[in-house]
Amino acid sequence: MTREISGKTVVAGIVGAPVAHSLSPLIHNAWLADAKVDGVYVAFSPPKDGFDAFAEGLRGAIRGLNVTVPFKEAALALADEASPRARLAGAANLLIFEPGGVIRADNTDGAGLLTALKAQAADFRVSAGPIVILGAGGAARGAVAALIEAGAPEVRLVNRTIERARVLAQSFGAKVRVFAEGDAAALAGAGLIVNATSLGLGGGPGPAAQLQAAPASAVVMDMVYRPLTTEFLRRAEGIGMRTVDGLDMLLGQAAPSFEALFGAAPPATDVRGLCLAALEDGR
Ligand code: ATR
Repeated sequence: MTREISGKTVVAGIVGAPVAHSLSPLIHNAWLADAKVDGVYVAFSPPKDGFDAFAEGLRGAIRGLNVTVPFKEAALALADEASPRARLAGAANLLIFEPGGVIRADNTDGAGLLTALKAQAADFRVSAGPIVILGAGGAARGAVAALIEAGAPEVRLVNRTIERARVLAQSFGAKVRVFAEGDAAALAGAGLIVNATSLGLGGGPGPAAQLQAAPASAVVMDMVYRPLTTEFLRRAEGIGMRTVDGLDMLLGQAAPSFEALFGAAPPATDVRGLCLAALEDGR
């Protein structure tokens, strides 16, 4: 993949700390090459307390940024304008830098979650039963926002720090209920169970949720994609549940980001295959 970089090349990227493990440059540069778009997508890692200075310095200077941990809340706060879905999620994973200096925030993580469900559990319906979200951090908030917006009648939150789940639930109203960790009632009748904690990342044990308490028809999703098949998903598979891995969510948030950054639809490149190869190589 050789592409000429010129003075006209559109520059975008991802900002996070750490960011070296991100698959986003691989995904976006593969799309850029196949779509023959004159653009480049790079990774930035400012100091953890230096996000605002970094982003302010880029006003009007680049096309935009995807934003990952730990800067998503700061990205929303810094933007001049924000989409309703970014406001609802309380975080931005996409900043568009307008030539005049205005910074617009958006959040495509929720769209990514719904795309992943469509890709790997096509007949899943948000109305199938209560949706259980494990976790109450930024990833969980984004998931709750997307699922409520998609019409979920009931979302149940389970988190180690129950107070954090209560605070999250309060910002969404009566459809979101909080259950204590270890309370099997949280899983009764569930249509979907999502791991939105960082548990299982890098191969450790996943959340301890008692999956047997949910119906066998429940779909189990993990936002963690390193490893692709987490212990949590393995456990679900072991009792015959359908599973959805986190890689399609990553790809699902990347596609609308690419359109917003480069003004072109992502081409039909097998980016999932590229990412799987990179994950296997330990990249
Ligand atoms: P993110 O933006 O990815 O959601 P976060 O805001 O740091 O990251 O949230 C991490 C989530 O993983 C939280 O729900 C956290 O639980 P707490 O709110 O109790 O901290 C959860 N988590 C992380 N490590 C955990 C552990 N060892 N056991 C249980 N939950 C854990």
